[in-house]
Amino acid sequence: MFIGLDLGTSSLKAILVDDAQTVLAEHSVPLSVQRLHDGWSEQDPKSWCDAVVEAFRALSTKADCSRLKGIGLAGHMHGATLIGADDKVLRPCMLWNDTRSQVEAAQMDGDQQFRETTGNIVFPGFTAPKVEWVRKNEPEVFGKIAKILLPKDYLRLFLTGEHVSEMSDAAGTAWLDTGARDWSDDLLATCQLERVQMPTLVEGSAASGRLRADLAAELGLPQVVVAGGAGDNAAAAIGAGVVEDGTGFLSLGTSGVLFAANAGYRPDPKTAVHTFCHAVPDTWHQMGVVLAATDALNWLAKLTGQTASDLTRDLGDVTAPSRTMFLPYLGGERTPHNDSNVRGQFLHLDHATDATEAARAVLQGVSYAFADCKDALGATGTTLDRALAMGGGSKSEHWISMLASTLNISLDLPKDGDFGAALGAARLSLMAAVGAGLDVATQPPLAKTIEPDPALSDAMAEGHARFKHAYCVLKDI
Ligand code: XUL
Repeated sequence: MFIGLDLGTSSLKAILVDDAQTVLAEHSVPLSVQRLHDGWSEQDPKSWCDAVVEAFRALSTKADCSRLKGIGLAGHMHGATLIGADDKVLRPCMLWNDTRSQVEAAQMDGDQQFRETTGNIVFPGFTAPKVEWVRKNEPEVFGKIAKILLPKDYLRLFLTGEHVSEMSDAAGTAWLDTGARDWSDDLLATCQLERVQMPTLVEGSAASGRLRADLAAELGLPQVVVAGGAGDNAAAAIGAGVVEDGTGFLSLGTSGVLFAANAGYRPDPKTAVHTFCHAVPDTWHQMGVVLAATDALNWLAKLTGQTASDLTRDLGDVTAPSRTMFLPYLGGERTPHNDSNVRGQFLHLDHATDATEAARAVLQGVSYAFADCKDALGATGTTLDRALAMGGGSKSEHWISMLASTLNISLDLPKDGDFGAALGAARLSLMAAVGAGLDVATQPPLAKTIEPDPALSDAMAEGHARFKHAYCVLKDI
């Protein structure tokens, strides 16, 4: 049996699967985010370790874990977890949606060697500009940095005592030579850092260490192999069987992701598409990232005092685009704008606009943001005519049919079950611990496919044009 861990922004999820990947037990532990100032988003890394111990204990009460063979790690990407020489955390982790380092990001992005080497824009959410912000604003912390770890790699340090990362998450730092799958000494030097301050790199499907003897004894677990694992998006792709060139998924989680697997390295930074290593050797992937997807709906739910499911329950069929427009840029946007200053907008409100209409506009605004991602992927030469729909938001069929028509692609809805980042992490541990091949990364059985409605697609395309125009007109004010 194998454990897959997914360190999410709002919870840590652990699943236990048997050798045939049947889920035997699962457990989630909620996590909180601290937002001390506009644009800031931080987590205490200690809360991740407490959560993982709680999750292991809970799994052990639900199933006999004595035949455990491997553990895989997945987690939210880009966070800067700064560690001193004693392996103690120097400050709270600045997360993927923390945009305080926009000045530093723009400066770094102005230096051509970042785009040339990493294949990506230096976005404020990425790790390097955050560490540059620390260098400028907290020099005493910067001076003590012995290692810079990504969030799930800090969990790995807790579990194994090793400083290791893997290619998919490392590609989101802005220090990786993404084509060569190695740290760039030149980029690190530009940031007054050195390779010794970075974790060593393995492939996601390779071993990265073993569970520490004392922790294994405390938890009553064997000292099993911990796999390299992956950033949450690449892990979700492994969980969903999205590895072959031309396959993709659309994830409606806190953030939204339109993900395409690539056989080769195909960077095109000017599109604001992310081009990262995939979790298995010699593969890459591209994705467009919408910073607030279900996050936008949850924001409206909080504002209206309702739950997200209350707001979406009675929406019925999607018949025509709503004239009420919502721009979901609550914390800025990545693809296609790379704009951390822009904020959300509601447009075309009238006396009849109620919470339901506002919810319809929010789902539509996020759908248009996904259409922007599809266009950005298209500009790099990557096309998707179907994708697997995943994430909490995919439970709303209204939203999925709106997305199918807006993007004009077929969206496959998997049957209920686990096929997300935690399963991907468990699959990577199968590969690392018992040498399983890529054939373990199968696509989940489908419940149904939602096809685009041609008439609605035309109307949504007009709405999408209004949405793009609204951003252009409003961004300066
Ligand atoms: C990807 C990204 C998010 C986080 C959080 O670039 O920032 O998807 O990984 O899940």
